[in-house]
Amino acid sequence: MLNKINLWKSSRKTLSIDERIEHVLKQPIPNHIAIIMDGNGRWAKKRALPRIAGHHEGMRVVRKITMLANKLNIDTLTLYAFSTENWKRPKQEVDYLMGLPEEFLGKFLPELIEENVKVCMIGNNNRIPEHTKRAVQKAIDKTSSNTGLKLNFALNYGGRAEILEAVKEISNDVRNGKLIESDIDDECFSKYLMTHNLTDPDLLIRTSGELRISNFMLWQIAYSELWFTDVLWPDFKEAHLLEAVEAYQRRTRRFGGIHSEESQK
Ligand code: IPE
Ligand code: IPE
Ligand code: MG
Repeated sequence: MLNKINLWKSSRKTLSIDERIEHVLKQPIPNHIAIIMDGNGRWAKKRALPRIAGHHEGMRVVRKITMLANKLNIDTLTLYAFSTENWKRPKQEVDYLMGLPEEFLGKFLPELIEENVKVCMIGNNNRIPEHTKRAVQKAIDKTSSNTGLKLNFALNYGGRAEILEAVKEISNDVRNGKLIESDIDDECFSKYLMTHNLTDPDLLIRTSGELRISNFMLWQIAYSELWFTDVLWPDFKEAHLLEAVEAYQRRTRRFGGIHSEESQK
């Protein structure tokens, strides 16, 4: 098995990005990829730059990876852009991060429209500044009829807060007679989450070498395949996304069952 992987690794090195895309497209593609884009601060520190320089560079990577995901016919790309815990950072950094959606969409919205990308967002709008909300809403409106990749930004998003909100809404609906307790199952609960119109991530990627989830899509990643890399987000290239998808395609998902070939024995 190891030999097979090494052989595959060395053959892959000789392929161009386009050839790898072609190969990847011949096998089942993850419908939904979620990415914890981490390591912007360390990228900047390594270059003796302020942390915000790392965030700025990270934004350029978002564009590149979005375009590739669209090319790969991926249905949804969820990007963790700001967590409910990131408010703990210095105000100057938070202000900069809250300015990035506007800058990103100001530059790339025409391209996203052109490429048939549909922008959406999960997260709580309450603390997000007006100018950020306006920029995101404009992108959502202008791309609402697009049918390509769903580019889903997780902004002021936290998995626990999302679950708590769902629980409150469910108890409200039970109290008002809209819902009966015995109807609350996985499917019903999922409908109360911010991701109600999305499938669960098939593949979760985290960059920067951290091996944790940091409050991201806690309910939705129950059976996601996990892929971690030491690469810092601003250094993340198309080749890395392909590597993650190629790794995904070599995995066997079981969802608690047994491999389908074994069940025939
Ligand atoms: C990820 O990079 C971006 C956000 C969390 C907004 P970080 O800013 O967390 O970078 P590191 O982890 O400090 O390197
Ligand atoms: C997770 O990264 C949040 C985003 C990428 C937006 P953090 O850098 O905030 O996570 P921790 O603090 O290292 O767990
Ligand atoms: Mg971090």
